[in-house]
Amino acid sequence: MGSDMKKDFLLVGNFKNNMVDAKQYQSNLGDMEQKMVILCPNFCQIESFESLRQKGIRLGAQDVSQFENGSHTGEISVDALTKNHIEFCIVGHSERRNDFAESDNLINQKLKLLQKTEIIPILCVGEGVSDSMPQIEWAKQTVFEQLSAELKNVDQAKLIVAYEPVWAIGTGKVADNQHISEICAYIKKTFDIKTILYGGSVNQDNLKEIYKIDFVDGVLVGKASLDAKNMVAMQQKICNEQFNIDN
Ligand code: PGA
Repeated sequence: MGSDMKKDFLLVGNFKNNMVDAKQYQSNLGDMEQKMVILCPNFCQIESFESLRQKGIRLGAQDVSQFENGSHTGEISVDALTKNHIEFCIVGHSERRNDFAESDNLINQKLKLLQKTEIIPILCVGEGVSDSMPQIEWAKQTVFEQLSAELKNVDQAKLIVAYEPVWAIGTGKVADNQHISEICAYIKKTFDIKTILYGGSVNQDNLKEIYKIDFVDGVLVGKASLDAKNMVAMQQKICNEQFNIDN
């Protein structure tokens, strides 16, 4: 990509199981135009973040039920997301795969349900640490297996993939650019995916380098997204890169 080209870049915040003060968040965001920002609060807080839509921010959910409706205590259906005007939904986050034993089949069911609506799934894939093979090969094998199984009968053009190496999530160890670039390029070449995010310990210090990777169209940010000031700083870095301002 030539340095004079401006690339669209999504900034997605995943608040996970944390309560965030919506009023405080809004005031810390300031006046910046937030068209490329998606926030995923916990479901009970979605309503309190509604007013941020006025700034152009879009709202996403962190998960959805594989059941359409009915007697499934504790579940939140696609219908509930639609009625709350949710535009995006994270699916298959590694914390759900690990903590709730979510399988490829279950993730595939969720994707298919979401695709009956306008909600765009953000499918998270990524490898853990390998003891037996080079990490890059292990990463390719893992994402290939996940995506092959989970994208069956799913419209790949209407989906965002987030590549998140499990060892980089919440650890402060961001994957190096070569690794991110190779895996994101591999995913784009092997599957019909147009938009890929990188996730795993993204913050305002490493964002500039990640932005430069051709195959990356945005970032999925956990911990750093909890503070709106970090989001503002990250968006500022993206703007500076887009308009070639030194930072
Ligand atoms: P992190 O989380 O930014 O805290 O590493 C990323 C994620 O889990 O999506």
